[in-house]
Amino acid sequence: MKRSLYPISVKNTLGDLYKTPVGHDILDKLLLQLNIDPFWITNPVVSNIPLSMVKKLAGSKLDPGFFDAIIALINQEKDVPCVSNAPITPAWWKEAVFYQIYPRSFYDSDRDGVGDLKGILEKLDYLKDLGVGALWLSPVYDSPNDDNGYDIRDYRKILSDFGSMEDFDHLLSETHNRGMKLIMDLVLNHTSDEHAWFQKALKDPSCPERDYYYIIPDPEGKTPPTNWISFFSGSAWRYFPEEKVWALHLFSKKQMDLNWDNPALRQEILSMVNWWLDKGVDGFRMDVINYISKEHLPDHSLPQGNETIGSLMTFTGIEHYYYGPHLHDYLREIKEKAFLPHNAFSVGETPGLGMNMCRMVTGQERKELDMVFSFDQLETPGHTRFDDYLYDLNYYRDYITNWMLHYGNNCQMSLFYNNHDNPRMVSKVTKDPAMVFPVQVLLAGMQFTLRGTPFVFQGDEMGLTNYAFSSMEEITDVESVNLYQELIEKGKTREEAFATILAGTREHARVLLPWNEDIPADQKAKVHKLPAYLFQEADPSITAIYKELIALRKNSHALIYGDFALLNRKRDRFVYKRWDEKETFVIECNLGKTVRKAAFLPKDMTLIFRTEPYKNEPKETLGSYEIRIWKK
Ligand code: GLC
Repeated sequence: MKRSLYPISVKNTLGDLYKTPVGHDILDKLLLQLNIDPFWITNPVVSNIPLSMVKKLAGSKLDPGFFDAIIALINQEKDVPCVSNAPITPAWWKEAVFYQIYPRSFYDSDRDGVGDLKGILEKLDYLKDLGVGALWLSPVYDSPNDDNGYDIRDYRKILSDFGSMEDFDHLLSETHNRGMKLIMDLVLNHTSDEHAWFQKALKDPSCPERDYYYIIPDPEGKTPPTNWISFFSGSAWRYFPEEKVWALHLFSKKQMDLNWDNPALRQEILSMVNWWLDKGVDGFRMDVINYISKEHLPDHSLPQGNETIGSLMTFTGIEHYYYGPHLHDYLREIKEKAFLPHNAFSVGETPGLGMNMCRMVTGQERKELDMVFSFDQLETPGHTRFDDYLYDLNYYRDYITNWMLHYGNNCQMSLFYNNHDNPRMVSKVTKDPAMVFPVQVLLAGMQFTLRGTPFVFQGDEMGLTNYAFSSMEEITDVESVNLYQELIEKGKTREEAFATILAGTREHARVLLPWNEDIPADQKAKVHKLPAYLFQEADPSITAIYKELIALRKNSHALIYGDFALLNRKRDRFVYKRWDEKETFVIECNLGKTVRKAAFLPKDMTLIFRTEPYKNEPKETLGSYEIRIWKK
């Protein structure tokens, strides 16, 4: 990773590309997508081929600008990441277990069918008792809910379905009274089309807000300004026939992208962020934050997306904004002018960034973000979220081990399997009802003993699995609804399209939590004014295991800040060590269903945890998906 290789050009070899931090991340991502082993690139024969030759060999199979687009991204990054082995700097957010609340489906205190802030308040003692140290609230701001609150209409107002600003203030102080922190979800890449800024911008071409967005006049309205594709299907441009303009929306048609290059917009955002921090919130989870800086052509228009990248990554245009030219500047600006003065914490949602790019935005010396969510662990190579397949945990082992060993002590990892955008991981790992419990215990056991900050998603601790939706009528999420439509238009039958949606829909994560209240099951639906299908049962034994494991982590410096070493990674095995000067833990996992011989049977350590059904089995056998924790 030497800067001397720069500027990269087509004269460089494939191997040179792989040696640059950004090139490495891009090639890894492509290999993952295509399910090709990195050896394909690192072997000397291929790695010594100059790009110009690859271009020739590929001929018309690649869009001619393919390598130029990648080279431009590589050359744009002027820094190399720092990987420090100095001792980890302690911080509350490295010690806490976070718990993500999706307010709409967390707890419905007034039985109107929608979860609310008072509901969260009622459950604070439950969360405290579970051992949670910090809450992350998915958006609670005023919104027309085209994307369940990720389309903000007013950043300084609470959505009335959820309660009032008083309810929020009360929730915040009660969270703090219990010694927990609270972070909000901050959606800064876009606003709702109903936000006052956008409404003004649309109507008045000369108002200052016009430049807050990407609004392009076009009397014809036939061809969108670029070929960019929206994450929620179709073109990323919406035409407004009355005003005769296009506006950019990377997400739904009602989520209009903000133009961060406008200094007045950044000022507005800073003042809003500071307003929340002044209230006392402890930080933010920053929605798709790596998309905020878009690349422009010299005439300020947005460039066309490369078709080859588009067909590989689904979303044409992505190379122009997922690691944009001013990303670092904008992150530093918020850090310096809002987060640092308030000692606030930030975790970025950063889809598509590989390890080097993540280092570049989270390295503590760089003063950008504290942590990120990187998503490449969520699907195994060659798969996307909407594929119906079985997730092989051997991939998770190798992925997470690589990060723990190489990310650096100046960067902190987030550990998660679930959030509001994904089906439940347990249901991807096994379809066998008898295996659900041990898989849940295994996932939890790893989450609280690996290195990084754990993020529990609501319901993980209740043993929730994917929901057995039976038809599209039960699915409301904008992403799924649009994708279903797109699949039908492409010629899929209804059954085929529904099967795809069922595999990947975000709705699985958005089902109302089962609080095992004292209401007969057939009455619950009525009481909550919700369709009966929304109810699953919670499993109290899983909750007890979460409590036990969270307490174990919380009380152990070794598990939080200690070292990590991989001891055994044979097929279906994951044995690792976590230690500091005082304590050592060895964790042995069976990542598969086949019962095996234990690989680690120490004489001088105590077995402090073992998956429940196996507790009375001989120690020599490792049950299906068993996890055990040894301590010295
Ligand atoms: C993020 C959110 C997701 C939302 C999208 C657009 O990925 O997690 O729920 O739909 O951004 O805001």
